[in-house]
Amino acid sequence: MSNARIGLIGLGTMGAALALNIADNGFPIAVWNRTAATTKGFHGSAGDLADLITPTETLEQLVVAIAKPRAIILMVPAGQAVDDQIAALRPLLDADDLIIDAGNANFHDTNRRAQEAGDLPFLGIGVSGGEEGARFGPSIMGGGKREYWDRVADVLEAISAKHEGTACATWMGEEGAGHFVKAVHNGIEYADMQMIAEVYGILRDGMGMDPAAIGDTFAGWDKGPLKSYLIEISGKVAAATDPKTGKPMLDVIVDAAGQKGTGRWTVIEAQHLAAPIPAIEAAVVARNLSSQIETRAAGEALFGTAPHQLPHDTLSLATLEQALIAGKILCYAQGFDMIVKASENFGWALPLPEIAKVWREGCIIRSEMLDDMATALGEDENRNLMFAPRFAEQLKSSHDALRQVVAQAALHGLPLPALSSGLAYFDTMRTARGTANMIQGQRDFFGAHGFARVDGGSGHHGPWGAS
Ligand code: 6PG
Repeated sequence: MSNARIGLIGLGTMGAALALNIADNGFPIAVWNRTAATTKGFHGSAGDLADLITPTETLEQLVVAIAKPRAIILMVPAGQAVDDQIAALRPLLDADDLIIDAGNANFHDTNRRAQEAGDLPFLGIGVSGGEEGARFGPSIMGGGKREYWDRVADVLEAISAKHEGTACATWMGEEGAGHFVKAVHNGIEYADMQMIAEVYGILRDGMGMDPAAIGDTFAGWDKGPLKSYLIEISGKVAAATDPKTGKPMLDVIVDAAGQKGTGRWTVIEAQHLAAPIPAIEAAVVARNLSSQIETRAAGEALFGTAPHQLPHDTLSLATLEQALIAGKILCYAQGFDMIVKASENFGWALPLPEIAKVWREGCIIRSEMLDDMATALGEDENRNLMFAPRFAEQLKSSHDALRQVVAQAALHGLPLPALSSGLAYFDTMRTARGTANMIQGQRDFFGAHGFARVDGGSGHHGPWGAS
């Protein structure tokens, strides 16, 4: 029976959740997994949704089960597996059948795959929200030809998260635009998580709070301007108890952060674009350093333990909250600024306000603040968010808190790579006369690279040769 509205390949955690979401929204779906037992098990446990799901044992069966023109979602691991799957599938498809890569692809790969596909329909879509998002409403960032997006927009909008009734599923632009936006999302995700972890460090080591009290603090902040999924889950993580030992969960988790690489891709791309995202870079670096556990232990043995503990009443919880607000604004400002630069560079016309809107629900970085960011970008999408009146006002009232936190942490040996880079970014961006004149002088001294003079003209040289 060729009646499935859509097909899906890859029934891992995310694929299975997405397939159930599609069926739950009333779309008949055909599914296939490399291991037939997985497909059978998935179908067997689909409950009431099983009637809308056609399990298939071969790719040929999958293709036959889908209504024409077909649309097939790939939910396979990013990288070579996607190319292999496309190569196996294409010969079985008609010329107007659409392949949709919904994994966490590097957008350069999506650009290449779109080019390789030529006139054969192909989309690359970024899907955010983890397993729960995939099952009940992710945020979806589409890339590829608009006409292909339009063919499946009804399905993707229906399964996506909603913000006050508006679907968090949007076409971002040609080729790898969707996966690019997803990469920046992940870069921001890294920085937001890192800043929260840094504040956790101050609460734990600087203020001696136990995990339960830290959990309460985050839960309190989740009722104010910081309200967001990441603050919410940080509170829950801090409050949880290890069923095995009865200790707080945070005390049994090794302090070495994993990463699949999307944050790193963002940083590499930012360097290519000369788009400064120092908070995101700091977050990626911090993850890398976190894995150097033995070296860090040797460092503590060699240099001694930092004092850490802050004198009583040095920082209040309100000051920490304000510092996190400032850090968060600066980190998102950097991420959106990178998107502006990429949009110009790649000729994509990425829809800035729509990106903020699509991130308001469903994705990992969803937060109250993104609603205001969508409004601010709607007023002027090329303006750095730190200059948008509502965020400028917030920064005016919160940067001093960030300064206090960074200063006290530095004095007491508490590392704050992302928050302090946020502060340095802020101070750099509000300093009209910086210090790069010295760099230009140095460059001209050793390489005769020339410099511009404040009284006019470029290509000038200093008197160093004569001295
Ligand atoms: C999302 C997440 C997700 C990401 C994981 C793990 O938006 O749902 O970004 O796509 O893959 O969070 O990422 P790391 O392993 O790099 O931390």
